[in-house]
Amino acid sequence: MQRLIPVLNNDHVPLHLISVINTLLIAAKEISFRLHQGSLAGTLGSTLDENVQGETQKKLDVVSNQLIKSMLLETNLVHAVASEEEDFVVMGNPDAKYLVAFDPLDGSSNIDINGSVGTIFSILEKPDHPAEGTELFLQTGDEQIAAGYILYGPSTMLVLTTGNGVKMFTLDHSIGEFLLTVEKVTLAEQTQEFAINMSNRRFWTSPMEHYISDLLSGELGVRKKNFNMRWNAAMVSDVHRVLSRSGIFMYPADCKNPEKPCKLRLMYEANPMSFLVEQAGGRSSTGYERIMSIQPTDIHERVSVIMGSRAEVDSCLGYYKKYQCDRPDTPKV
Ligand code: AHG
Ligand code: MN
Ligand code: MN
Repeated sequence: MQRLIPVLNNDHVPLHLISVINTLLIAAKEISFRLHQGSLAGTLGSTLDENVQGETQKKLDVVSNQLIKSMLLETNLVHAVASEEEDFVVMGNPDAKYLVAFDPLDGSSNIDINGSVGTIFSILEKPDHPAEGTELFLQTGDEQIAAGYILYGPSTMLVLTTGNGVKMFTLDHSIGEFLLTVEKVTLAEQTQEFAINMSNRRFWTSPMEHYISDLLSGELGVRKKNFNMRWNAAMVSDVHRVLSRSGIFMYPADCKNPEKPCKLRLMYEANPMSFLVEQAGGRSSTGYERIMSIQPTDIHERVSVIMGSRAEVDSCLGYYKKYQCDRPDTPKV
């Protein structure tokens, strides 16, 4: 089985970019080790701190953030990093060209129940125009030059795109290397499986309410086929299932909290996952616009997410055309 670096070399990925990706993986191996140690590692549970979005930080969120941030900055290949766990952009080498946005630990509420979690990353280049701090990162998802996630599940996997399809690698713990296990991820066009947090149903807007209602009616309804539902509550692991066996993953804007109509973050959750899904032949939208076309205005902004198998996403988007309603989120493009 092929190791990561020769595979990326073969794909003509620039050496410095390979180094940045490899650095993320060195940090990921350390995170994976600590996660697999579980309670033995002494890093489970909550700290008393809250992150910039007011959520309680898990100790492992903090540890993972620190590890990834410091290792990336030490490479001298990274100009700046943005993280879910950092208020502001952290600057690195002024002469370096790479920008890395990341969610150090996604689905962190799963840690306490020994469920799957992950690290999501999005790599951009310093823009041509003069920009500083946050402005550096305010680029559309289409500007990403690489993106992916590391899933810490029963096995630890890297799912990566550099704009030339999607590859999956599995960590071989015996040699400490990621080995190529799926050469070309292809997302089936059709699916009979959906992922959404159903407990939010009463807060959804009418397009989503009608769409899910038709899925639930199964072969007795207009869709004329039965649908299964899965929800792991970690985007990494839910999207990994979609990339592995098809599906549609949704976290739509809702009216639960008018201050926060969307849950998922554009720069380090929705954009990198959209890049993977589109590169695997799928589709990704807010319901109204393609996610990777959105011009961000803040590194921590949140967005409505509908992604996965192409025909199913299209069918969901049909409901957004048919059922007009006020948007709880602000249109971005
Ligand atoms: P994070 O742990 O980085 O804050 O992200 C959690 C996100 C995402 O991974 C997942 O899809 C979603 O929150 C789960 O939300 P619910 O709690 O509504 O299930
Ligand atoms: Mn997350
Ligand atoms: Mn997180």
